[in-house]
Amino acid sequence: MSPASTAMQSADAATSPPAAGASARVVLETRKLCLSFGALQVTRNVDFQLRAGERHALIGSNGAGKSTLVNLLAGALQPQSGDILLEGERINKLAPFQRVRRGLVRTFQITALFGEMTPLDSVALAVCQANGAGLSFVGASAAHAGAVDEAAEILRTVGLLEHARDETRFMAYGHQRLLEIALALACRPRVLLLDEPAAGVPMAESRRLFQTLAELPDELTILLIEHDMKLVFQFASRISVLAEGALLAQGTPQEIAHDERVRQSYLGHSHA
Ligand SMILES: Nc1ncnc2c1ncn2[C@@H]1O[C@H](COP(=O)(O)OP(=O)(O)OP(=O)(O)O)[C@@H](O)[C@H]1O
Ligand SMILES: [Mg+2]
Repeated sequence: MSPASTAMQSADAATSPPAAGASARVVLETRKLCLSFGALQVTRNVDFQLRAGERHALIGSNGAGKSTLVNLLAGALQPQSGDILLEGERINKLAPFQRVRRGLVRTFQITALFGEMTPLDSVALAVCQANGAGLSFVGASAAHAGAVDEAAEILRTVGLLEHARDETRFMAYGHQRLLEIALALACRPRVLLLDEPAAGVPMAESRRLFQTLAELPDELTILLIEHDMKLVFQFASRISVLAEGALLAQGTPQEIAHDERVRQSYLGHSHA
Protein backbone atom coordinates (compact mmCIF):
# COMPACT_ATOMS: atom_id res chain seq x y z
CA MET A 1 0.00 0.00 0.00
CA SER A 2 1.36 3.43 -0.90
CA PRO A 3 2.05 6.07 1.78
CA ALA A 4 -0.75 8.09 0.20
CA SER A 5 -3.22 5.25 0.74
CA THR A 6 -2.18 5.03 4.37
CA ALA A 7 -2.70 8.75 4.80
CA MET A 8 -6.09 8.50 3.13
CA GLN A 9 -7.13 5.68 5.40
CA SER A 10 -6.01 7.55 8.48
CA ALA A 11 -8.43 10.31 7.50
CA ASP A 12 -10.90 8.26 9.50
CA ALA A 13 -8.98 9.20 12.60
CA ALA A 14 -10.66 12.61 12.21
CA THR A 15 -7.44 14.57 12.53
CA SER A 16 -8.61 16.94 9.82
CA PRO A 17 -10.03 20.30 10.82
CA PRO A 18 -13.80 20.66 10.55
CA ALA A 19 -15.00 21.59 7.07
CA ALA A 20 -16.33 25.07 6.53
CA GLY A 21 -20.04 24.32 6.29
CA ALA A 22 -21.45 23.44 2.91
CA SER A 23 -23.64 26.50 3.43
CA ALA A 24 -20.63 28.82 3.67
CA ARG A 25 -20.49 31.52 1.03
CA VAL A 26 -18.69 30.66 -2.21
CA VAL A 27 -15.82 33.16 -2.58
CA LEU A 28 -14.10 31.83 -5.67
CA GLU A 29 -15.63 29.72 -8.38
CA THR A 30 -14.90 28.42 -11.86
CA ARG A 31 -17.56 27.39 -14.35
CA LYS A 32 -16.76 25.08 -17.24
CA LEU A 33 -13.20 26.37 -17.30
CA CYS A 34 -11.10 25.10 -20.22
CA LEU A 35 -7.53 25.55 -21.38
CA SER A 36 -5.41 23.62 -23.88
CA PHE A 37 -1.75 23.87 -24.74
CA GLY A 38 -1.84 22.82 -28.39
CA ALA A 39 -3.48 19.41 -28.51
CA LEU A 40 -3.05 18.91 -24.76
CA GLN A 41 -6.20 19.77 -22.81
CA VAL A 42 -4.92 20.68 -19.34
CA THR A 43 -8.09 22.20 -17.88
CA ARG A 44 -11.28 20.36 -18.82
CA ASN A 45 -14.66 21.86 -17.96
CA VAL A 46 -13.60 22.54 -14.38
CA ASP A 47 -16.45 23.54 -12.05
CA PHE A 48 -14.61 24.39 -8.87
CA GLN A 49 -15.85 26.09 -5.70
CA LEU A 50 -13.92 27.59 -2.84
CA ARG A 51 -15.99 28.53 0.20
CA ALA A 52 -15.28 31.23 2.78
CA GLY A 53 -12.77 30.15 5.41
CA GLU A 54 -11.95 26.82 3.79
CA ARG A 55 -8.58 25.18 3.99
CA HIS A 56 -8.90 23.57 0.59
CA ALA A 57 -6.30 21.20 -0.85
CA LEU A 58 -5.95 20.59 -4.58
CA ILE A 59 -4.36 17.22 -5.22
CA GLY A 60 -3.60 15.02 -8.21
CA SER A 61 -0.74 13.33 -10.02
CA ASN A 62 2.15 15.17 -11.67
CA GLY A 63 0.85 16.94 -14.76
CA ALA A 64 -2.81 16.72 -13.65
CA GLY A 65 -3.20 20.47 -14.18
CA LYS A 66 -3.06 21.79 -10.60
CA SER A 67 -0.58 24.62 -11.18
CA THR A 68 -2.37 25.50 -14.41
CA LEU A 69 -5.65 25.89 -12.51
CA VAL A 70 -3.97 28.16 -9.94
CA ASN A 71 -2.40 30.16 -12.78
CA LEU A 72 -5.85 30.58 -14.33
CA LEU A 73 -7.32 31.69 -11.00
CA ALA A 74 -4.51 34.17 -10.41
CA GLY A 75 -4.69 35.55 -13.95
CA ALA A 76 -1.27 34.38 -15.15
CA LEU A 77 -3.07 32.31 -17.79
CA GLN A 78 -6.26 33.08 -19.72
CA PRO A 79 -8.91 30.36 -20.16
CA GLN A 80 -10.07 29.51 -23.67
CA SER A 81 -13.61 29.20 -22.38
CA GLY A 82 -15.49 29.22 -19.11
CA ASP A 83 -15.66 31.73 -16.27
CA ILE A 84 -13.88 32.62 -13.06
CA LEU A 85 -15.94 34.40 -10.41
CA LEU A 86 -14.63 36.13 -7.31
CA GLU A 87 -17.39 36.93 -4.81
CA GLY A 88 -19.86 36.32 -7.64
CA GLU A 89 -18.19 38.76 -10.03
CA ARG A 90 -16.65 37.58 -13.28
CA ILE A 91 -12.92 38.32 -13.22
CA ASN A 92 -11.74 36.61 -16.45
CA LYS A 93 -10.52 39.89 -17.90
CA LEU A 94 -8.78 41.21 -14.79
CA ALA A 95 -4.97 41.35 -14.79
CA PRO A 96 -3.15 39.56 -11.98
CA PHE A 97 -2.47 42.81 -10.05
CA GLN A 98 -6.16 43.74 -10.25
CA ARG A 99 -7.06 40.36 -8.76
CA VAL A 100 -4.52 40.98 -5.98
CA ARG A 101 -6.21 44.30 -5.22
CA ARG A 102 -9.49 42.42 -4.85
CA GLY A 103 -7.92 40.06 -2.35
CA LEU A 104 -6.98 37.11 -4.58
CA VAL A 105 -3.29 36.58 -3.87
CA ARG A 106 -0.81 33.85 -4.71
CA THR A 107 2.70 33.24 -3.47
CA PHE A 108 5.76 33.31 -5.70
CA GLN A 109 9.21 31.98 -5.14
CA ILE A 110 10.58 35.48 -5.01
CA THR A 111 12.87 35.61 -1.99
CA ALA A 112 15.88 35.38 -4.33
CA LEU A 113 14.90 38.83 -5.59
CA PHE A 114 15.05 40.21 -2.07
CA GLY A 115 18.17 38.30 -1.06
CA GLU A 116 20.11 41.30 0.16
CA MET A 117 17.19 42.88 1.98
CA THR A 118 15.91 42.02 5.43
CA PRO A 119 12.48 40.42 5.82
CA LEU A 120 11.34 43.55 7.66
CA ASP A 121 12.29 45.81 4.74
CA SER A 122 10.85 43.60 2.02
CA VAL A 123 7.54 43.02 3.83
CA ALA A 124 7.32 46.75 4.68
CA LEU A 125 7.90 47.48 0.99
CA ALA A 126 5.11 45.07 0.08
CA VAL A 127 2.81 46.77 2.62
CA CYS A 128 3.64 50.15 1.04
CA GLN A 129 2.88 48.69 -2.36
CA ALA A 130 -0.46 47.42 -1.08
CA ASN A 131 -1.12 50.93 0.25
CA GLY A 132 -0.39 52.34 -3.20
CA ALA A 133 2.89 53.95 -2.12
CA GLY A 134 5.43 51.29 -3.09
CA LEU A 135 7.86 53.30 -5.13
CA SER A 136 8.17 56.06 -2.58
CA PHE A 137 9.54 53.65 -0.01
CA VAL A 138 13.18 54.67 0.13
CA GLY A 139 14.61 54.59 3.63
CA ALA A 140 12.29 54.08 6.57
CA SER A 141 10.95 57.59 7.06
CA ALA A 142 8.48 58.36 9.81
CA ALA A 143 5.73 58.32 7.18
CA HIS A 144 6.41 54.63 6.72
CA ALA A 145 6.56 53.71 10.37
CA GLY A 146 3.03 52.32 10.08
CA ALA A 147 4.13 50.04 7.26
CA VAL A 148 7.11 48.85 9.28
CA ASP A 149 4.85 48.14 12.26
CA GLU A 150 2.45 46.20 10.04
CA ALA A 151 5.38 44.30 8.52
CA ALA A 152 6.60 43.33 11.97
CA GLU A 153 3.12 42.09 12.86
CA ILE A 154 2.98 39.98 9.68
CA LEU A 155 6.42 38.54 10.43
CA ARG A 156 5.19 37.68 13.92
CA THR A 157 2.19 35.90 12.38
CA VAL A 158 4.45 33.64 10.31
CA GLY A 159 6.93 33.17 13.16
CA LEU A 160 9.76 35.13 11.57
CA LEU A 161 9.93 38.12 13.89
CA GLU A 162 13.22 37.01 15.40
CA HIS A 163 14.68 36.94 11.85
CA ALA A 164 13.21 40.32 10.87
CA ARG A 165 16.62 41.93 10.48
CA ASP A 166 18.53 38.99 9.03
CA GLU A 167 19.79 39.11 5.48
CA THR A 168 17.25 37.03 3.54
CA ARG A 169 19.77 35.12 1.42
CA PHE A 170 21.38 33.65 4.54
CA MET A 171 18.10 32.45 6.08
CA ALA A 172 17.12 28.76 6.17
CA TYR A 173 15.17 27.72 3.07
CA GLY A 174 12.05 27.00 5.11
CA HIS A 175 12.25 30.52 6.53
CA GLN A 176 12.56 31.93 3.02
CA ARG A 177 9.37 30.10 2.05
CA LEU A 178 7.65 31.54 5.14
CA LEU A 179 8.82 34.97 4.01
CA GLU A 180 7.05 34.38 0.68
CA ILE A 181 3.86 33.75 2.63
CA ALA A 182 4.51 36.93 4.65
CA LEU A 183 4.91 38.88 1.40
CA ALA A 184 1.58 37.50 0.18
CA LEU A 185 -0.07 38.41 3.51
CA ALA A 186 1.19 41.97 3.06
CA CYS A 187 -1.22 42.20 0.10
CA ARG A 188 -4.08 41.64 2.59
CA PRO A 189 -5.53 38.58 0.86
CA ARG A 190 -9.04 37.27 1.36
CA VAL A 191 -8.12 34.23 -0.72
CA LEU A 192 -4.58 32.86 -0.63
CA LEU A 193 -3.36 30.50 -3.37
CA LEU A 194 -0.37 28.34 -2.39
CA ASP A 195 1.32 26.12 -4.97
CA GLU A 196 3.48 23.62 -3.07
CA PRO A 197 4.62 26.11 -0.43
CA ALA A 198 6.83 23.51 1.25
CA ALA A 199 8.48 22.14 -1.91
CA GLY A 200 12.13 21.45 -1.25
CA VAL A 201 11.82 22.27 2.45
CA PRO A 202 13.25 19.69 4.87
CA MET A 203 10.55 17.69 6.70
CA ALA A 204 11.04 19.29 10.12
CA GLU A 205 10.77 22.76 8.64
CA SER A 206 7.79 21.85 6.43
CA ARG A 207 5.83 20.72 9.52
CA ARG A 208 6.44 24.11 11.03
CA LEU A 209 5.44 25.83 7.81
CA PHE A 210 2.15 23.91 7.79
CA GLN A 211 1.61 24.68 11.44
CA THR A 212 1.98 28.36 10.58
CA LEU A 213 -0.51 27.99 7.72
CA ALA A 214 -2.97 26.23 10.03
CA GLU A 215 -2.76 29.15 12.47
CA LEU A 216 -3.55 31.85 9.91
CA PRO A 217 -6.79 33.76 10.63
CA ASP A 218 -9.96 31.70 10.14
CA GLU A 219 -11.48 34.27 7.81
CA LEU A 220 -8.66 33.80 5.31
CA THR A 221 -9.64 31.29 2.62
CA ILE A 222 -6.75 29.10 1.48
CA LEU A 223 -6.29 26.94 -1.62
CA LEU A 224 -3.22 24.75 -1.35
CA ILE A 225 -1.48 22.41 -3.77
CA GLU A 226 0.49 19.75 -1.94
CA HIS A 227 1.72 16.25 -2.75
CA ASP A 228 2.33 15.04 0.81
CA MET A 229 -0.98 13.34 1.73
CA LYS A 230 -0.17 13.34 5.43
CA LEU A 231 0.16 17.13 5.41
CA VAL A 232 -2.93 17.44 3.18
CA PHE A 233 -5.11 15.39 5.52
CA GLN A 234 -3.92 17.24 8.60
CA PHE A 235 -4.47 20.63 7.00
CA ALA A 236 -7.47 20.43 4.69
CA SER A 237 -11.12 20.90 5.53
CA ARG A 238 -11.97 20.14 1.92
CA ILE A 239 -10.15 18.44 -0.95
CA SER A 240 -10.45 18.57 -4.73
CA VAL A 241 -8.85 15.96 -6.95
CA LEU A 242 -7.73 16.73 -10.49
CA ALA A 243 -7.00 13.99 -13.03
CA GLU A 244 -5.90 14.79 -16.58
CA GLY A 245 -7.23 18.32 -16.25
CA ALA A 246 -10.70 17.35 -15.03
CA LEU A 247 -12.12 17.63 -11.55
CA LEU A 248 -12.48 14.02 -10.46
CA ALA A 249 -13.90 14.61 -7.00
CA GLN A 250 -14.50 17.33 -4.44
CA GLY A 251 -15.39 16.70 -0.81
CA THR A 252 -14.37 16.43 2.82
CA PRO A 253 -11.20 14.48 3.59
CA GLN A 254 -13.36 11.55 4.68
CA GLU A 255 -15.38 11.60 1.47
CA ILE A 256 -12.22 11.77 -0.65
CA ALA A 257 -10.58 8.99 1.34
CA HIS A 258 -13.49 6.69 0.53
CA ASP A 259 -14.01 7.73 -3.09
CA GLU A 260 -13.35 4.71 -5.24
CA ARG A 261 -12.49 6.75 -8.37
CA VAL A 262 -9.92 8.72 -6.40
CA ARG A 263 -8.41 5.54 -5.01
CA GLN A 264 -8.14 3.99 -8.44
CA SER A 265 -6.93 6.99 -10.42
CA TYR A 266 -4.70 8.69 -7.90
CA LEU A 267 -3.81 6.76 -4.80
CA GLY A 268 -2.38 3.74 -6.52
CA HIS A 269 -0.03 5.92 -8.58
CA SER A 270 0.74 8.67 -6.12
CA HIS A 271 4.37 9.31 -5.44
CA ALA A 272 3.50 11.18 -2.23
N1 LIG B 1 3.10 26.64 -20.74
C1 LIG B 1 2.87 25.37 -21.07
N2 LIG B 1 2.96 24.95 -22.35
C2 LIG B 1 2.70 23.67 -22.68
N3 LIG B 1 2.35 22.70 -21.79
C3 LIG B 1 2.27 23.06 -20.51
C4 LIG B 1 2.52 24.41 -20.06
N4 LIG B 1 2.34 24.46 -18.73
C5 LIG B 1 1.99 23.22 -18.35
N5 LIG B 1 1.95 22.39 -19.41
C6 LIG B 1 1.56 20.98 -19.38
O1 LIG B 1 0.26 20.93 -18.83
C7 LIG B 1 0.10 19.81 -18.00
C8 LIG B 1 -0.32 20.24 -16.62
O2 LIG B 1 0.74 20.94 -16.02
P1 LIG B 1 0.66 21.52 -14.54
O3 LIG B 1 1.95 22.21 -14.29
O4 LIG B 1 -0.58 22.29 -14.36
O5 LIG B 1 0.57 20.17 -13.69
P2 LIG B 1 0.61 19.97 -12.11
O6 LIG B 1 -0.61 19.20 -11.74
O7 LIG B 1 0.85 21.25 -11.42
O8 LIG B 1 1.87 18.98 -11.94
P3 LIG B 1 2.98 18.89 -10.77
O9 LIG B 1 2.35 18.10 -9.66
O10 LIG B 1 4.10 18.15 -11.41
O11 LIG B 1 3.37 20.28 -10.37
C9 LIG B 1 1.44 19.07 -18.03
O12 LIG B 1 1.35 18.05 -18.98
C10 LIG B 1 2.42 20.13 -18.44
O13 LIG B 1 3.52 19.56 -19.12
MG1 LIG C 1 2.42 22.03 -10.27
